[in-house]
Order: sequence, then structure tokens, then C-alpha cells
Amino acid sequence: MSARQKMKTLIIYVSYHHKNTEKISRYMGKVLKARVVDHREIKPRDVIKYDLIGFGAGIYYWKHHKYLIDFVDQVPKVKNKKAFIFSTRGIGPLWYYHRVLRRQLKTRNFKVVHDFSFKCWDTAGPFRVFGGLNKGRPDKRDFKRAGEIAKEIIKRVQ
Ligand SMILES: Cc1cc2nc3c(=O)[nH]c(=O)nc-3n(C[C@H](O)[C@H](O)[C@H](O)COP(=O)(O)O)c2cc1C
Repeated sequence: MSARQKMKTLIIYVSYHHKNTEKISRYMGKVLKARVVDHREIKPRDVIKYDLIGFGAGIYYWKHHKYLIDFVDQVPKVKNKKAFIFSTRGIGPLWYYHRVLRRQLKTRNFKVVHDFSFKCWDTAGPFRVFGGLNKGRPDKRDFKRAGEIAKEIIKRVQ
């Protein structure tokens, strides 16, 4: 894409428990000059109107929230589209948590240019007793990192 053409960017998020993913999505959206939408605000087929699409959700039972997985299942195959994958989570490995979404996007021919995750407030299960894991996050440092990642994505798609 030439410098004169404007890259149309979309971020789709699923964010339920603490709105952690929504906060990260909105921050990145400003840096990327992207449209930022909850998954209920857009039809899966309309994703193809964008050049770069970010897909993010909280991790629920070792993968992205089911609503995001179900949404991507309905996205058609694409040509020349770039994507990035992100999540917010309590604890545990990104490479494992992102495997399902990564496979879904690959099957649909997206070129995945970045893949990242943030440790955020998690009050699931026994962690609730202690006020939860990663209390107060996403915080200033996380938003700084989100901004740096967004700039890196811009570099990678140019
Ligand atoms: C029912 C439930 C299941 C969860 N499962 C996981 C998990 O498997 N791994 C993990 O690291 N975090 C897990 N979490 C923590 C969430 O991923 C974390 O709080 C995330 O930031 C929530 O995102 P959201 O506020 O955008 O929905 C779980 C939280 C809940 C409520």
C-alpha cells in the first residue's frame, strides 16, 4: 500500500468481565486511527472492508472468549488482508491461549503481523479471595506498551 492510500483499520473486541480488553482496544485504536467495535456492532462479512484487522478478547478457559471464536468462524476467506491477535489474561502462556484464533485466521488467509497479550485484572476462581491477580491492570505501563506495539504494527504493515 502506498503512502498516499489510507489503510483502513478495524479492531474487534470481546470484553466481558472487567472490560480489560476494551480498554486496551480503545487505546490502540487511537494510535492506529482504527475503528474500534464490540463484536456485536459489526457483521463478520463486513470485516473484509478493512485492510488491517485486530482481533482481541479476554482469555476464558485457555482460549479467546467463545464469542470471538464464533465470530471469526463466520468471517469469509480473504485476499491481501493483514491481522493482529491480542488478548488480556490472568496468567499463563500466550502461545497456547492464541492457538485456536491463530489457526482460524490462517485458514482464512489473513497474514498475521503481530500477536501479543497483556496480564490484566483477573478475579476468576480462587484468585477472587485475594482481590484477584494483577489488580489495577491494565495500568499506565500497559498502555505505554500498547502504544509501542501499535507503532510497531504500523511499521510492519507499511
Ligand atoms: C470464567 C473465567 C475464565 C478465565 N479463564 C482464564 C484462563 O484460562 N487463563 C487466564 O490467563 N485467564 C483467565 N481468566 C481471566 C481473564 O482472561 C482476564 O481477567 C481478562 O483480562 C478478562 O478480559 P475482559 O475483562 O476483557 O473480559 C478467566 C476469567 C474468567 C471470569
